[in-house]
Amino acid sequence: MSRKNQTLGEFIIENQSEFQYSSGELSRLINSIRLAAKVVNHEVNKAGLVDIVGAAGETNIQGEDQQKLDVMANNTFISTLTNRNIVCGIASEENDDFITIEGQGEDHKNKYVVLMDPLDGSSNIDVNVSVGTIFSIYRRVTPPGSPVTLEDFLQPGRNQVAAGYIIYGTSTMLVYTTGHGVNGFTLNPAIGTFYLSHPNMQFPDMGNIYSVNEGNYNHFPNGVKKYIKYCQEEAENRPYTSRYIGSLVSDIHRNMIKGGIYIYPKSSKAMNGKLRLLYECNPMAFIAEQAGGKASDGFTPILDLKPTELHERVPFFCGSRLMVEKAESFMSNS
Ligand code: AHG
Ligand code: MN
Ligand code: MN
Ligand code: MN
Repeated sequence: MSRKNQTLGEFIIENQSEFQYSSGELSRLINSIRLAAKVVNHEVNKAGLVDIVGAAGETNIQGEDQQKLDVMANNTFISTLTNRNIVCGIASEENDDFITIEGQGEDHKNKYVVLMDPLDGSSNIDVNVSVGTIFSIYRRVTPPGSPVTLEDFLQPGRNQVAAGYIIYGTSTMLVYTTGHGVNGFTLNPAIGTFYLSHPNMQFPDMGNIYSVNEGNYNHFPNGVKKYIKYCQEEAENRPYTSRYIGSLVSDIHRNMIKGGIYIYPKSSKAMNGKLRLLYECNPMAFIAEQAGGKASDGFTPILDLKPTELHERVPFFCGSRLMVEKAESFMSNS
């Protein structure tokens, strides 16, 4: 059941029965993500005013210079999730290893693990362009009562029980799925409440936007080069429009609303591309499929890949169903 202008809090309670195991734990977990999102939104909004833009001075395990907002968002989500006795473990793009959460009272009794990209699009912070947060939730596979293990985090994306993103844009939105479609909520900043503004979001089957960092063109596989040329040809509804923000969340969000394809392929410089399977591709692929779109590595659905390490990278093709299928046909025929 969804009603326009329902608050996110109301929506979570009213739809709780859809969860396979409705103990209330997953509802509390999504509620705490909602809370952390509001805190991060507040910080991102005043980024130009106080000293939180720029580099933090550390390098993360991805080999990237951490920005101050990367660190702030990471700490905010971790502390919000840790202090509420909700999850048993967290893995983050910004942490070398996963974090084990003991919980209060009965040790290690919480069932869910969260994987996240706390601040997506870091390179856009200093220039006042939209950034986001991405999260992915699984039930642990090892029995509660003992500390989480790596195995609990390395599950195929198909096992996700919920996933979503927050976009800190012209408006701040929280978009998420629990496997029953995708719903988008917009924050009214004056009162700090998210309202259902985009019920049952759907990727159009076809669109006219392609999003890829063409600066790397010479390093792309032949299939991708040919697909880009196809997008630029004068025929039928082509050439398509090229749109690339450089914040995955914003690029996917736009394409889900307007129709389009996002590609971050492998290249001769980066054998598996750049995007992280666990923190970026799996949650976005779950949302895309739930919205009637598609996501693959060019050959195999992202959600069917079996992860082998926490910070693994994977080529990413995501968007309108017919556009992803077309790009895949170029991949397998070249
Ligand atoms: P993050 O800021 O979390 O490290 O992610 C950056 C990602 C993604 O948001 C974006 O789509 C992509 O990097 C852009 O990469 P290029 O600058 O190589 O195009
Ligand atoms: Mn990063
Ligand atoms: Mn990212
Ligand atoms: Mn990030």
